[in-house]
Amino acid sequence: MSKITVPDVLKAKGQRKLTMLTAYESAMAGFVDQSGIDMILVGDSLAMVVLGHKDTLSVTMDEMLHHTKAVTRVVGHSLVVADMPFMSYQVSVEEAVNNAGRMLKEGRAGAVKVEGGDSILPQIQGMVKAGIPVMGHLGLTPQSIAQLGGYKVQGRGSAGDKIVQEARRLEEAGCFSLVLEAVPPGLATRITSSLTIPTIGIGAGLDCDGQVLVINDLLGMSTGPGPRFVKKYANLAEVITDALQRYRQEVQEGRFPDESHCYKDS
Ligand code: KIV
Repeated sequence: MSKITVPDVLKAKGQRKLTMLTAYESAMAGFVDQSGIDMILVGDSLAMVVLGHKDTLSVTMDEMLHHTKAVTRVVGHSLVVADMPFMSYQVSVEEAVNNAGRMLKEGRAGAVKVEGGDSILPQIQGMVKAGIPVMGHLGLTPQSIAQLGGYKVQGRGSAGDKIVQEARRLEEAGCFSLVLEAVPPGLATRITSSLTIPTIGIGAGLDCDGQVLVINDLLGMSTGPGPRFVKKYANLAEVITDALQRYRQEVQEGRFPDESHCYKDS
């Protein structure tokens, strides 16, 4: 399988649906890559999925870089997109360009993703000018949880117009694609048809140019019911728990290791 590039992602619009999944470390990234998924997002969901935080705000540049490196070391096919963590790009263009540059230079990512609209247009222009491919993210933007007041659907009714306009401005600023999270499908359809760059939906309906999910949700490794837009394609939580309980029982009962798992004397 050949390497997916940013121009490949742009070309896919209207031709074929794009696939993206998160991954945070090399073992899972290897499975995703070998499954032919177009893009791997080293999401700042790392904070919640892997590092045990309650939201995405606390994850740092160094933590994101550490996990991006683990992913890019093994990936041959998928385009790796590194999420820019909270406060790594909001303050100034200079900080945004420096931090995004580290994701490509040290992390070896192929692109970065940032959350937000008009307030970060100068940062996006700066990063693009520096040769860094940028994916936008509108709708539910978890880094703004303190302002949004919860993980809720965004852009219902007339609030959708602002998202459409911001999406156009993100495209003008140079984004090569745009994640739309937790917006009504009708709004996602409007945005998708008014842009020349692909939209990648998560809780945004079928009409987006592609879809993304958090891999732990898709594999059924998350606790609790999760958001409405998650589809569990497996129940690994059950498989893992069952394996661990059988191991514990066999050790406690003196049934593991048996002869087949021991070295011979000679
Ligand atoms: O961090 C993440 O996993 C994301 C996806 C939900 C798009 O931003």
